[in-house]
Amino acid sequence: MSGFVWLVGAGPGDPDLLTRRAARVLSEADLVLYDALVSPATLDLAPRAQRFPVGKRAGRPSVDQETIHRLMITTARRGRRVVRLKGGDPFVCGRGGEEALALAAAGVPFEVVPGISSAVAAPAAAGIPVTHRGLASAFVVVAGHAESGYRPVLEGLAAGSATVVVLMGLGARATIAALLLRGGWPAATPAAIVHGAFTEEQQAWTGTLDALGEAPLPETDAAGTLVIGAVVSLAATLGAAVPAVQEGDAYAVR
Ligand SMILES: C[S@@+](CC[C@H](N)C(=O)[O-])C[C@H]1O[C@@H](n2cnc3c(N)ncnc32)[C@H](O)[C@@H]1O
Repeated sequence: MSGFVWLVGAGPGDPDLLTRRAARVLSEADLVLYDALVSPATLDLAPRAQRFPVGKRAGRPSVDQETIHRLMITTARRGRRVVRLKGGDPFVCGRGGEEALALAAAGVPFEVVPGISSAVAAPAAAGIPVTHRGLASAFVVVAGHAESGYRPVLEGLAAGSATVVVLMGLGARATIAALLLRGGWPAATPAAIVHGAFTEEQQAWTGTLDALGEAPLPETDAAGTLVIGAVVSLAATLGAAVPAVQEGDAYAVR
């Protein structure tokens, strides 16, 4: 029997947000190579698999990309079913494309199982639709970890013309806010940071663009996503209906 690799999106955290296909391939997997943001409850869906963490979190040691490729390829060549389980969607800011290319180059059969990206799930968790008639008809997703990547995109964006969603951007929030303000975005543009969406650590801060750079971060190291644009104003109404959003302190969606 020849092995197989599935590049699977685990969604933002809650296993209920996995696709049925993701749950099925997990239940049949021999080996699961998983990222740091994948929840233990999601891993429980792979009871017969060996599970091996390969995740990267800022500032912490991780398994290098070449090793991940080698593990997938050698295990599949031994006839095993491998799930490479990644947070959100495997092809959004997660090096899933590189992993697919490595598998293709090695002649290992594979399939991509898309997941719900935190680019839409994190705003949704706080009651923020990324598009909304009359407020925004487009949204732009950038990665905040490399200025050379997001700067040309955000500088080229007419002020207020789209919702801006920033992944991996907590540390860059001041730089990104300053860049948009210089580009003519009004200081009062609504902004939010959604932490740990669809996890037990879910919290959100809402405010305005001129306060985003100084927005406090929670004690936890939950992943956070920035959302900037008029649609964030809807969190005041829609966020209240999201049960896991903490209310009554600096992180309440209000
Ligand atoms: C390396 S990127 C991977 C993105 C992933 N492939 C996706 O489609 O969601 C990790 C970033 O996703 C965002 N993120 C992931 N899970 C999140 C969650 N539960 N709540 C808020 N943001 C999250 C954060 O911005 C984090 O820094």
